[in-house]
Amino acid sequence: MKIILLGPPGAGKGTQAKRLAQELSFPHISTGDILRQNVSSGTDLSKEAKNYMDQGALVPDELVTQMVARRLNEPDIRRGFILDGYPRNLSQAESLDRILKNKNTGIDLVVYLDTSESVIIQRLSGRLVCKSCGVNFHIKNMPPKVDMVCDNCGGRLYQRTDDKEETIKTRLEVYKKEVSGLIKYYEVKGKLERLNADEEADIVLNKIIHLATEKAAK
Ligand code: AP5
Repeated sequence: MKIILLGPPGAGKGTQAKRLAQELSFPHISTGDILRQNVSSGTDLSKEAKNYMDQGALVPDELVTQMVARRLNEPDIRRGFILDGYPRNLSQAESLDRILKNKNTGIDLVVYLDTSESVIIQRLSGRLVCKSCGVNFHIKNMPPKVDMVCDNCGGRLYQRTDDKEETIKTRLEVYKKEVSGLIKYYEVKGKLERLNADEEADIVLNKIIHLATEKAAK
């Protein structure tokens, strides 16, 4: 099963993709995570990407698509995968279709995590991320058992640099500009399913699993 999680910043794409990856034993491919790993290792790619990310703007399509194409060449994606943060616009969606078509496959399910703006702001302003394993926590919604320490691996938690108020605003604007085209694209193909992602994380996860199971049975 090849799944895309679509939704605004803070919708819970990363949170749900990580849980879903465990439940379904598929790799989780997050362009945001791959870009942040490049930034922390100081690779050539990161020098170009960092400025865009710090401003909340999209990293150029070509760069991100090359990164995704490389990842989709790895053998672990054959059974399925969960894409989080890609595609972000029509051009990326078309590139993704081309990449998958060359592998005689395609996307099975696109889940749109519909989230209200007040929830987005509350979630992003309290988000904590593990430096070692990337698992997400939240100061109020999902606090770690020990202050600033990851329950999963014991790593240090940190606040993302793009979770500042000004940058969140820009990320939301960028998202709003691109999302309707993307939604239409997958609606026309009959792949899009909408979920209310304001609900508790466990409820949202169960609904996504239900959608994936239904799709697999068709
Ligand atoms: P990326 O990392 O993809 O950021 P994003 O899309 O803005 O999404 P977020 O990671 O902020 O939110 P999320 O939906 O994953 O929410 P999360 O699960 O963390 O991209 C970052 C940057 O990289 C971009 O701005 C861009 O510059 C660049 N980039 C990435 N992909 C690109 C692409 N394809 N093209 C070009 N540039 C690209 O949850 C948020 C918080 O809420 C957490 O604290 C979590 O614990 C909590 N939470 C989650 N769900 C729930 C729930 N149901 N109830 C209560 N709390 C919840």
